[in-house]
Amino acid sequence: MNIDKYRKDFSILKEKKIIYFDNAATSLKPRQVIEKMNYYYEKCPANIHRGIHQLSQEASVIYEETHEKLSDFFNCKPEEVILTNNSTDSLNMIMYMLYNSNYFKKGDEIITSVYEHHANIVPWQYLCQKLGLVLKFVEIKKDFTYDLADLERKITKKTKLITVAHISNTTATIAPIKKISEIAKKNNCLFVIDGSQSAPHHKIDFKKIGADFFVCTAHKMLGPTGVGVLIGKRNLLEKFSPVRFGGDMIKNVTFKKSTWNDLPYKFEAGTPNISGAFGLSAAVDYINYVGIDNILKQDKKLLEYGINEILKIDNIVCYNPLDIKKQGPILLFNLKGINCRELSTLLDQTKNIATRAGMHCAEPIISRFDKNGVTRASFYFYNTKEEIDVFISALKFINKKINL
Ligand SMILES: Cc1ncc(COP(=O)(O)O)c(C=O)c1O
Repeated sequence: MNIDKYRKDFSILKEKKIIYFDNAATSLKPRQVIEKMNYYYEKCPANIHRGIHQLSQEASVIYEETHEKLSDFFNCKPEEVILTNNSTDSLNMIMYMLYNSNYFKKGDEIITSVYEHHANIVPWQYLCQKLGLVLKFVEIKKDFTYDLADLERKITKKTKLITVAHISNTTATIAPIKKISEIAKKNNCLFVIDGSQSAPHHKIDFKKIGADFFVCTAHKMLGPTGVGVLIGKRNLLEKFSPVRFGGDMIKNVTFKKSTWNDLPYKFEAGTPNISGAFGLSAAVDYINYVGIDNILKQDKKLLEYGINEILKIDNIVCYNPLDIKKQGPILLFNLKGINCRELSTLLDQTKNIATRAGMHCAEPIISRFDKNGVTRASFYFYNTKEEIDVFISALKFINKKINL
């Protein structure tokens, strides 16, 4: 893979001479995405689905192309793709869809996992408190992998929904989604996958993945902030109630009542993030241009190299499976003797390396590892081994200084 060819599209890498290892928080955006968003504001800044005039027609066509591109990308029907604000929004929408449809009754259970992002815990906690449901958490094993046996232990006749992050944003664990899906089906549970960390790196085939709902967020896959994706099985989206009410999501409105629009518009109320949808469309084009399989291959190479090198440093404690087959391209670690925030600041200020430190929006699991938080370096295909070398030598240098 000719990385330099792609790196040129991310001008910030050269302009700021930055080593960007905060890809799990948000990816960089290539020139093509920024240009496509500007195109909306410069060339067709109209509202969609409303105007007869040319500007509105053009904006509507490009907005619709995003649904189509996403349906090709994720192998689902265009009407199964709902554009949202982000993954958090998508998960909240699923929660409210089920709430509004009276899917749960008192005493029912929801099973998530201990390593979820807050976005896949808090909405379910809220629902459980509201309806008197029980929220259960599947454990991870000592090697930071998902404990399927614990899921089997925790599931009961009252379990109505299972959810999991396809790839954790902390331990980077790849969940055994095929097996979880089989268990969910056997037990008549809905299965929701949080694909925020998998969609940027892995080919996702919604028809094969075995989930009822799959969510992801544009800004982690080269796209803009403020746009997310919610994919749901058509029969479920038809059956369940909308969660936001007003313009665009209706078919007819009288003073007495309203009827809902066809999918996916039933779930897309009001003027959407149109420039964001343009940007997401360009992001999907860009991923296709590089090739999602090539991206995964490059990510794995970087991860393997990163694992080998970081393990050579004394005083490093890692919180990952440390096996490229079992995890995504994230290193979660602490260096003994220094607070994670101080370490992250030093990396930034001395070597211009962007990492993240703290609780990573996953406080329940991170506080188990270290109540002061941990450091995270996360890679994407435009990163290089040379950048990892700089990162590792900076860590070694800091280690020498503090642990001599
Ligand atoms: C696994 C996971 N789920 C959900 C989210 C939430 O994404 P967003 O903030 O775009 O809603 C993130 C973001 O870090 C994540 O990593």
